[in-house]
Amino acid sequence: MQDADVATVATLEAEVSPAPWSPGIFSDCLRAEYECWVVRADKVFGFAILSLAPGEAHLLNIAIAPDRQGQGFGRKLLRKAANTAKKEGAERIVLEVRPSNLRARGIYERAGFEFLSLREKYYGPPKKEDAFVYTLAL
Ligand SMILES: CC(C)(COP(=O)(O)OP(=O)(O)OC[C@H]1O[C@@H](n2cnc3c(N)ncnc32)[C@H](O)[C@@H]1OP(=O)(O)O)[C@@H](O)C(=O)NCCC(=O)NCCS
Repeated sequence: MQDADVATVATLEAEVSPAPWSPGIFSDCLRAEYECWVVRADKVFGFAILSLAPGEAHLLNIAIAPDRQGQGFGRKLLRKAANTAKKEGAERIVLEVRPSNLRARGIYERAGFEFLSLREKYYGPPKKEDAFVYTLAL
């Protein structure tokens, strides 16, 4: 992901997330030098953001445009995140997911992620929702 992709990425995020990140948050992630990837053909239709800390990586966001979902791109991004985190010396990846997001939970579980804990009222506004914390040992 580059600065020039931020507007498209934020538009995509607004289409798929109940509490979308602003363009400024994506710019901050680039400035912070997080691992920020896009999936691109003619135009950008997916992205993922991973922060790396000693021992642990955090998958902060991942999305595929609705008309490209179900074609394996989410799984590929997840594999890239796991490979990068491992190469950089992380022992595990953690992420938060809405309990109601069965589709995302499905791809995480099939990739080997396991439930770690519950974070109460993690999401919101507009609507407060708990998060499941999932982890994958690398
Ligand atoms: C979650 C998300 C990133 C998954 O990306 P994707 O490209 O659609 O996922 P894939 O095509 O790689 O599918 C992965 C698996 O889901 C299955 N799948 C496909 N369509 C599905 C559907 N409609 N419902 C449930 N599972 C489905 C696939 O069969 C595949 O299974 P497999 O790994 O056993 O082969 C995507 O749906 C998305 O952007 N959702 C909105 C944003 C979001 O929720 N992000 C996560 C926040 S925690």
